[in-house]
Amino acid sequence: MSKPKVFVTRVIADKGLDLVKDFCELDLWQEELPPSRAELLKRVRGVEGILSLLTDKIDGEVMDAAGAQLKVISNHAVGFDNIDVQAATVRKIPVGNTPDVLTDATADFAFALMMAAGRRIVEGDRYVREGKWKTWGPMLLLGTEMKGATLGLVGFGRIGKAVARRALGFDMRVIYYDPSESKSDPNVKATSVDFETLLKESDFISLHIPLTPDTYHLIDSEALSKMKPTAVLVNTARGPVVDLEALYEALKFKRIFGAGLDVTEPEPLPVDHPVLTLDNIVIVPHIASASKVTRDKMAWMAAQNLIAGLKGEHLPNCVNPEVYAK
Ligand code: GLV
Repeated sequence: MSKPKVFVTRVIADKGLDLVKDFCELDLWQEELPPSRAELLKRVRGVEGILSLLTDKIDGEVMDAAGAQLKVISNHAVGFDNIDVQAATVRKIPVGNTPDVLTDATADFAFALMMAAGRRIVEGDRYVREGKWKTWGPMLLLGTEMKGATLGLVGFGRIGKAVARRALGFDMRVIYYDPSESKSDPNVKATSVDFETLLKESDFISLHIPLTPDTYHLIDSEALSKMKPTAVLVNTARGPVVDLEALYEALKFKRIFGAGLDVTEPEPLPVDHPVLTLDNIVIVPHIASASKVTRDKMAWMAAQNLIAGLKGEHLPNCVNPEVYAK
């Protein structure tokens, strides 16, 4: 029996790729950069499954270019704002994602960015490398302490709660605002507040919400103006949740203390972007889930979703289960 044809848009960890190779006739995009739009539209033609990354825009045009035999789209990410889920649902195509497995890696990373920006770690490293370190200084590179600080979580889903648990170990007070629904958890000591209160009271603000039309530029100049001048903002969610021009202004004029970004708008961030001239921001290239263990699990889970869809079974993690409604 012939194997189902699939397009995998980048090399992923062997833990997932080996499963795909066993079960499918695989067309693998091997370049470092994602396929261009034209290449994507060409390569999906005739496939039954697509395993995509967050860098691939999978919309109705791609689904139609693939053809009516397309059975499944499996995204190698928990976020799925790169996929037009409604277009998939209309075509009865299940879409898979990789929740849970990256929760701890991402929560660890949000904490790392809070500390890097709050305690000026990257700035300190530059200081040493540039030969500026002349002596121990009582006032040198003073930062913000975690103990007793208020952490404001925007989004209190899996990752937000995992950050809250870590914060309690640092003796922080945790407050949260979740725009989607009330997600209190008796196991996590954290208080629900409105957005305005969160902005005003937090010493650290960490974003853990998906990108939707409602969360686009949620952190704009108005939101930034309500934060404490000592506040540190961290984004490990999606770049466009923060208006980067507004953040640049706020950091440049020291309206807030610092920021740590794993994600930006756009990605990749052009090297001549003005925000890169500032000392009070740490920026890394969307690597919050990038531990070996987590990327193995994400690849495995994305492969499981893909194969289930090809077999006509329910995806273990499906973001549009309504496709299964009779
Ligand atoms: C990473 O950003 C993901 O959504 O998995």
